[in-house]
Amino acid sequence: MKVTLSAIKADVGGYVGHSESHPDVLAKAGECLAKAKKEGLLVDYHVTKCGDDLELIMTHQHGEEGEKIHKLAWDTFVGCTEVARALKLHGVGQDLLADAFTGTIRGLGPGVAEMEFEERVAETIIIFMADKTSAGAWNMPLYKMFADPFNTIGLVIAENMHSGFAFEVHDVKEHKKIIFNAPDEIYDMLVLIGAPSRYIIKAVYHRETKEIAAVSSTQKLALIAGRYVGKDDPVCIVRSQGQFPAVGEVLEPFATPILVEGWMRGSHQGPLMPVSIPDSTPSRFDGPPRVVAAGFQLSDGRLVGPRDMFADKAFNLARHDANLMADMMRRHGPFEPHRLPLEEMEYTTMPQVMKKLEGRFIDL
Ligand code: F6R
Ligand code: MG
Ligand code: MG
Repeated sequence: MKVTLSAIKADVGGYVGHSESHPDVLAKAGECLAKAKKEGLLVDYHVTKCGDDLELIMTHQHGEEGEKIHKLAWDTFVGCTEVARALKLHGVGQDLLADAFTGTIRGLGPGVAEMEFEERVAETIIIFMADKTSAGAWNMPLYKMFADPFNTIGLVIAENMHSGFAFEVHDVKEHKKIIFNAPDEIYDMLVLIGAPSRYIIKAVYHRETKEIAAVSSTQKLALIAGRYVGKDDPVCIVRSQGQFPAVGEVLEPFATPILVEGWMRGSHQGPLMPVSIPDSTPSRFDGPPRVVAAGFQLSDGRLVGPRDMFADKAFNLARHDANLMADMMRRHGPFEPHRLPLEEMEYTTMPQVMKKLEGRFIDL
């Protein structure tokens, strides 16, 4: 059976501040999607959250970019915004940058990751969702899952993965894309994806079967709006087992936290901490950035799950490490490398300060 899996997310209002989602907002989303399932538009759905981000996970038969599905997501976010408004949550409708739906939800603010595939005998799926960070945060984890033999031993010893994976990389500033084959071209690819604020891994494919393996949301809110309007808080869908990395290989990159951009006012570097879904409540300095992982088995499009993958105690040490890293970064206060370089800060008083200081700079 061919099925499309869509993960569409938006921040429609935070509870308290930007630290969490309100249960009434999640309940409203559940109502909207339950109705769509009853009417036959969805095969199945699951509503969840990562911090202040509302996450709609949907299976259906309308393909990628299905207009009816995008409209359903948009209308759901609009409905949830009304609930958030009644509760006077913080930043109501934050990610809905357009006034109305225009045929696709792309470019309107919400983040989108979608893939259509023939469901396997056992279709194992992991959906990663992050808060307080940018699209691009998946670059290193996806590289490790699909190209690094120190992470994914299957690349070395599993016959059905030994040919490697192809990476579709987007240049989000120039709106161009390029495909790299791993392992042959990893050095070239790393030159680009090592700069994740510009070059973002959009998708990964099995090189022999050409099957889609992973897809991420690459929407950059700041580029859409032309100003700071909140962090992208991206999502990523990964197929697992068989010809794809095993569940443990998919999760393993998050066992050693890395620094990502985001955190307070979207203008800092901080550790990406893997947590259970209930623990995605970024509070310290509005963070540190969080990642959650919802695992599913698909059964004729039915979402069997989720399992809360980072609830596993084996990630305790990663959380401890991330807290130590957070302390180390916080020590720098308003200094780089905690604070982002001037040109990358999405929240800045630089133009006003420079204007005020006009005339006071003297040639050296
Ligand atoms: C980061 C984030 C928060 C806010 C901060 C100020 O992605 O959402 O750190 O930037 O709490 O929020 P406002 O400007 O909404 O008062
Ligand atoms: Mg928010
Ligand atoms: Mg958020």
